[in-house]
Amino acid sequence: MKNLTALSVKTVQGELYVLDQTLLPQQQVWHSCKTVPQMVSMIKALQLRGAPAIGIGACLLLAYRASVGDSREQLLLDAEVLRAARPTAVNLMNNLDSMIAALKQTDFTLTAIACAEQLFAEDVELCQRMAEHGAELVQEGEQLLTHCNTGGLATAGVGTALGVISLAHQQGKNIRLWVDETRPLLQGGRLTAWECQQLGIPYQLICDNMAAMLMARGQVDRIFVGSDRIAANGDFANKVGTYSLAVLAHYHKVPFYVVAPHTTVDLACADGSAIPIEQRHADEVRGVSGAFGKTVWAPEQAPVFNPAFDVTPAALVTRWVFDTGVYSHADIAAGVLQQFA
Ligand code: MRU
Repeated sequence: MKNLTALSVKTVQGELYVLDQTLLPQQQVWHSCKTVPQMVSMIKALQLRGAPAIGIGACLLLAYRASVGDSREQLLLDAEVLRAARPTAVNLMNNLDSMIAALKQTDFTLTAIACAEQLFAEDVELCQRMAEHGAELVQEGEQLLTHCNTGGLATAGVGTALGVISLAHQQGKNIRLWVDETRPLLQGGRLTAWECQQLGIPYQLICDNMAAMLMARGQVDRIFVGSDRIAANGDFANKVGTYSLAVLAHYHKVPFYVVAPHTTVDLACADGSAIPIEQRHADEVRGVSGAFGKTVWAPEQAPVFNPAFDVTPAALVTRWVFDTGVYSHADIAAGVLQQFA
């Protein structure tokens, strides 16, 4: 396998390493990942997270397993185990489908490795195209807002929503960014803030419940978010809290954009109600943990509701930014997403 480098995954001399995102920003620890159970556990624990990044990581692991001589039968079984690691991000399923097709070729070891390398390179390219389309929407001096982490840590490239914001910054548009901390797992406070510092993007961290006040005060010009799955009618799932931002944006007439590669579209879901939503462990809401330690503030057995994602209806989206262009409601109604079948 070629040497490949992204912010959260890399291959060195044929071996795969994953940056542990649960330890960021206090510690930067790379784990070697050699087995399917290791990869599944890293994805479930969000050591590797972000819709495109988990798809790429799972495929690189399968390519590694092929390179050390695993049989086609074993690799096909492993693909199904990896597919079940997280239920909402469809990039994982779409990327694994490409790997399964490669594994069915005669020379399956070489085709599987080539397929994983190609998926990695493709994601880098898709991120760049989304960034270029999305940055055109940003005007000089605007204040932007984003949720969760959608940058280099979540993809093989510059990211989705954060890629757009980063390019607008590089273009000298003098933007400022509000970063939602993103409860419960703090992907905004821990990861997006860290990436913004690396990228020199002027940002301020806010608690999620401060966004309404900023919008009421006219201090948010545009909102960019990512997605884990987009249904055929344009409804989409993203990190829980996205839907409330969309409702607020609608009320305050703030343009609200979803930014995603075409690999996030799932035409098998007619609308958002068909998107499976992952439920996560109660401890994530009872307290918080990371490289900084563990704190529990709720009663030990406090009953908890902890969906990892929510669904934003298409009606609340201003535009959909894809690698292929920026689409309106009329485009979605005319079936533009069918090109991704
Ligand atoms: O639970 P996570 O951290 O994997 O959730 C990530 C998100 O919701 C992102 O917004 C989404 O994956 C799109 S990122 C490119």
